[in-house]
This record gives sequence, C-alpha cells and structure tokens, in this order.
Amino acid sequence: MAQSAMNNSSAMPPTKPAPQLGQNPLQEVIDAMSIEEKSLMVTGAKRREVVPVATPGRKQKNIAAVGGYTYPFVRLGIPAIYLSDGPAGLRIAPRRDNDPNSYYCTAFPVASLVASSWDLKLAERVGSAMGHEALEYGVDILLAPALNIHRDPLGGRSFEYYSEDPLISGKMTAAAVKGIQSQGVGTSIKHFAANNQETSRRFINTIVSERALREIYLQGFKIAVEEADPWTVMSSYNKINGVYTSESGELLETILRKEWGFNGFVLSDWYGGEDALKQMQAGNDLLMPGLAVWSNKIDSAARNGALDMKVLDHNIGRILKVAMQTPTYKNYPYSDKPNLEQNAQLAREAAAQSVVLLKNEQETLPIANSNQKIAAFGNYSYKMIVGGTGSGMVNNKYSVSLTEGLQKAGYQLDKELQASYQEYLKKGRPRNMKADSLITAMPKLDSILGEQAIDENLIRRKAQEADMAVVTLMRVFGEGGDRKLDNDYYLSAEEKKLLKSVSEAFRAKGKKVVVVLNIGGVIEVASWRDQADAILLAWQPGQEGGHVLADLMSGKVNPSGKLATTFPITYQDSPSAKNFPGTPAGKPEKVVYEEGIYVGYRYYDAFKVNPAYEFGYGLSYTNFEYGKLNLSAGKFKDQLTVTLEVKNTGKVAGREVVQLYLSAPAKTMDKPEKELKGFAKTGLLQPGQSETITFTLDARALSSFDTRKTAWVAEAGKYTVKVGASSRNIRQTAAFKLPKSLVTEQVNKVLVPEVAISELKAKR
Ligand code: BGC
Repeated sequence: MAQSAMNNSSAMPPTKPAPQLGQNPLQEVIDAMSIEEKSLMVTGAKRREVVPVATPGRKQKNIAAVGGYTYPFVRLGIPAIYLSDGPAGLRIAPRRDNDPNSYYCTAFPVASLVASSWDLKLAERVGSAMGHEALEYGVDILLAPALNIHRDPLGGRSFEYYSEDPLISGKMTAAAVKGIQSQGVGTSIKHFAANNQETSRRFINTIVSERALREIYLQGFKIAVEEADPWTVMSSYNKINGVYTSESGELLETILRKEWGFNGFVLSDWYGGEDALKQMQAGNDLLMPGLAVWSNKIDSAARNGALDMKVLDHNIGRILKVAMQTPTYKNYPYSDKPNLEQNAQLAREAAAQSVVLLKNEQETLPIANSNQKIAAFGNYSYKMIVGGTGSGMVNNKYSVSLTEGLQKAGYQLDKELQASYQEYLKKGRPRNMKADSLITAMPKLDSILGEQAIDENLIRRKAQEADMAVVTLMRVFGEGGDRKLDNDYYLSAEEKKLLKSVSEAFRAKGKKVVVVLNIGGVIEVASWRDQADAILLAWQPGQEGGHVLADLMSGKVNPSGKLATTFPITYQDSPSAKNFPGTPAGKPEKVVYEEGIYVGYRYYDAFKVNPAYEFGYGLSYTNFEYGKLNLSAGKFKDQLTVTLEVKNTGKVAGREVVQLYLSAPAKTMDKPEKELKGFAKTGLLQPGQSETITFTLDARALSSFDTRKTAWVAEAGKYTVKVGASSRNIRQTAAFKLPKSLVTEQVNKVLVPEVAISELKAKR
C-alpha cells in the first residue's frame, strides 16, 4: 500500500494534470488526494517499508538517523519534510554507509545552561546557529526547543529543559524559536504539556489543577506561541487529567489554537497516544514517526464515515501550509557543510556567559597566577560530559575536557594524576556514549564508571606539589528514566571520600580547592560545600566545555550566569517530593501535582524553606549597585514601567542579571510571596560604568488564574515591585496600587481534573 501511494497511482484521470502544492489552491490539492494518500499524509513515513522518493527536481536526501519524515506525493508536488532532534543541537548520524564524508554537528550548551545566561539575545543566536546546521544538513524542522518545567530535581530530562519558572522558560523558548526559524527552518516546541517526568512517561496521568496548569505548565508555551510563532508543536506522551494530550481537543484546539492563535501543525511525540482517530479529531495533525496500523485505521474510518473527511482535510491543510515554507519544498541547495568552526566559537561564548559561580571564598577565582600547578581530581576532569543522553544528545566531532582547556590556557596540570585517570577511564566509558554512535544513547548511571579510589598518600603528595586542586563531579542521564537519590542526587561514598581527602590535604597546606559541577540536573550540595573554596556550576556545557571553564577560572570571562532552578538543601525539601513519580509505587499510573502553583522558588519563598542556592543566584568577580526604582506611576493603568540604574562598583568588567519580582495582594486568591515578572542582563559594564534598565509591566503581569471565574484576574490592592540580584537578594523595592480588580483574560473551562486535589495553600 505504501509504495503504490508513493508512486502516485491513478487517483486523477490522466488527461487532467494533478494540482500542484503551491501552484494551485491548497483545497484543490487536498481534494485531489485519495483517501489512502490522505491517511498516509497524516502519519509519518519513517517505517521500514518506506524509502522516501525525491520529488522531481529535488535532491534525494539520505540523512542518516534523521528523526522522521513525512510522505512525499510526487504527482501533487508534495515533498517529504524532514524532522530531527533536538534541544542542544541537531542530532543526525555523523557517518553514512559508503560515504567518506562526516556529518558532525555542534553540541551547544544544554537548555538548563543557556537559561542560566538569562540572555535572550544569546539564546536567539544559539538558536540561529542550530537552525543553520539543520538547514545545511537538509533538515526542515528541528524538534526543539523543549520547555517542560523543572518540577522535581529527579526529572531525567531536565537538562533539556530551561527552568522551574514559566516566564524564563517561555522567553528562552521564544528567543530560540526566533533564532532557529530565522534560518528558514521550523521548530517543534515540546512536549506539550505537563510532561515533567520520565517514569511511566508513555501513559502517566498528570492530575493537576486548572490554575497550576495555566500558571506553571502552559504559560511558557503560551509565551512562545504568542511571541515567536513556532511552525509546529509536539504533544507529549502523558495524559492531563485523564486524557492523552495528543487526544485532547481541549488542549490542542481550545487552548492552543483558539485561545493562543497557534496556526501551525501539531505532531505527536514518537509513538505517543493511543487512538489515531481521537488524535486526528483533537487536532493532532501528524502522527510520528508513522505506523501502518495508524494509517490503515484512519483510512478505513475515513471511508466508513467514522472520521469526518473535513477533520482529516483540516489536519492535512495545516501540515501542507507548513510544508510549503520548508527548505525542501523551496528546493534549498543544502551544502552538508555548516560552519562548524564558527558555531564552536558561539557554543563557547554561550556557555561562558551562562556558567554559574556558586561559591568563591577569599577570591579563590579567578586564579591569580597563570603559572599555577593544578592537581585535577575526578574522572570527568579528563573527559567532558557535553550534554545528556537520549534524543537530546548531539553527535559532535570532539569535546574539550576541563584539563585540556586549562592546559591550553597555560596552566600546568599534574601529569601523574592525568596518567592515572586516563588509564582508569580506558577501562570503561558510559555505554553508547561514543561520539559516532548511531544509537540513541540511554546509559543508566550505574553503567558509568565510579570514581577511582585515590590513595591518601598520593593526595597528600599532590597537596605538597601542586598550587591548587580541582575536583569535578559529574552526572549524566536522559530520556527514558528519572534519577534516583543514592549515588545520584546525593553524592556517592567514593565522591564524598575524594572531596573530603582532597579538601583536608590541600587546606592543610593553605591551598585552595575548586569544585566543578558537570551535571545535568540538581544535586545535593549543602553537606559538602564547606569543603570547597569555590564552586562552578557548568551544567553540561557543550563540546567546548573545557575552554569555557578555563575562560572563567582564568578571569578571561567574568561569570555572569545565575540559577534558573533552585538547589534545595535536601531532596525532601522539594515541594513535589511527596508526589514524584506517582502511584502505585513501582509502575506509577498517576501523579498528583499537590504542590499546585508552588513550584521552585514560589514554594521555598512562600513556605520559608531555605534552599542551598536560591533561584536567580550567582556570583561575579565584581559587584553591582542597584539604584532606586523609578515607577512611571503610583497607580496602575494599562501598563507601568520600572526603571533603575545598575552600576559596576567593583574592579573588573562584568555583566549583571537583574530580576524583577512582583508581590501581589492575596485577598481572594492564594498567591506566592513573589513571582518573576521580568529580567534583563546588562551589557559588559566596565568598573564604574552604569546601565539603565527598564521593565514594562502589563496587566497580565499582575494577574493570576482565578479558577472560579475561569479567567486571569488582577486583584485590586497594593503591588510591591522587588528588584534584585536573586530571588532572595532583593536590592530595591517600590509599590503601586491597582485601584480596581481587572479581568485581563476570560478563557475556557477545560482540562478540569476528574478528582479533587488537596493542593498546598500558602498562609500569608
Ligand atoms: C522524544 C522527543 C523526540 C522524539 C524524536 C521521543 O522519544 O520524547 O523529544 O523529539 O523522540 O526523536
């Protein structure tokens, strides 16, 4: 069946030329499709029996390990369109059969790191570089960015996602989408929605209140859709309040299309959902990667009337409108030679603007003297983890380890340790982590080599010989599994021992210890951070990681990243801990979001729980002074601007992330103590230099979702603007009044939970 459709059998009489996509009205093209062709059009073509044929005049594509593609219909001028992951850069295979060329891509910093830059222009530039690689490798749609919320520290894919906060997630996504789409390729923002865990990911029922859904889990998608017009949206695997997202007309039609004005197409996550007909009816236009059972089911339902032809035509129309924008449709002569050198530079710059300096006692960093001899401990001082595993990984050509980066920057690295670690690392490597792997790599942490035991005497000798120590701690995980507490969220016994021994030995000699965190998600830090003089959080910094860390440790770049996710003191402190990954234990079927809107700092601040490092936190080698806040009015009407001066009062140049939080009256609605409503990053300020920062607050920024009214409502009363260097380091405040309550947006009563949720409420 598949082959005959692709060879374009005789759906039209031979005398009349078939209408052509883009040349004839779209409806004529759709009307000219047979039912068989229609059912193939809405189900992807990446199945064993299909080899995509080239539309005449177009290059035959042979992109190895591309994520998926759609059916081409040559007689109608419809080309196959190619979709591929992912959020940290394009994921295709670097090698092809009988082909001497290579097709590597740039591993950019992961989303959690890019978010720590708080720099939207930078996120956009990274997006355009990723888009450029997709374009030049013949890919039409990049399956990115991913913006699920960091709900729980153990979430296995959180490295692919930006933040615990929907504003930063949405703004970062919008910036990335603009960048990628500026290259003429599309995006697929994912995974829509409330897909915040990997355990039972294919079927977990996320039970969440309307308010938490709207304010926390949908808000970022809304911002991205409204600001950046992504070509496509990828629905998620999970259910929301009992219905698969890909089968939910309430989510895909009512919210996404009607309320937000999305006009691209929706595709399913790979093999997501259960019922192909329900997916079509819900407006999930394309089922990926395509199975014959799905197209057969759609085919017969369209024939017997179970599926309204109008619905199917709508789905197809939306796919074809996007198809006409693609490089493949436009016959773009892709080169297979993206500018990898230039993109490597950008990957380095982006990571350097994002790494977070968590601790820096007595100016341990930057390293004052470039002749310092450094003793590097920890396996991953010698091998950089550039990103996570699964569909978010990138097949990059090389990566720069911390020690290579430091060496290149002129530091002397201890040779004996280097030799010992390199020997040890040869014994094993994370399974499937080879750069040229064609396979989606999903190693479990257990399969990764633990820290080798270093002899105490050797450590003491190194403390004598070297000028300082660096200890790298690593975590890697990804799609298909969540993390665990022991030896993952908490350090392993070997890691604890290593840190303690190195710290005691070096400090006994008056020497400093720097800890580098090369991790994909939050870990416990409170119990061991006293043993470090400085801590750099590199997350997973992409292929140039070692250079990036050397840039920061040497002071060539002044750290300016800040946390977009809280580091709690213990795992049990996190508001979701009681409800992760759901029930029944072992193979959870449902997860109840009892913490409601109290996710991340919204919880820690309202419930006065001290985190280890709070949301928005990050140090610099310089200091900034925040001038008084200037409000455009004392009473809110339509919008209000907040202006302030930020001045570099230290000795070196640096950039500051300025955050605006708002405390709203909590008369009729429960409210977080404060919420992020704006952020800005200064340019590079020289010592003594200032910059004026302006924030604009509109009525939406004052609103919360009122479930009883099914509307966004701004309550009358006093609002306090809090501008600071982190969520707990507020430098200036000012207040304004909203004289009368406002309904800022009336929406639809949809996605209502089937059961009562006993949600957390703050007492204020
Ligand atoms: C992942 C998606 C990815 C898709 C295609 C799925 O397993 O959840 O994020 O885009 O595979 O590789």
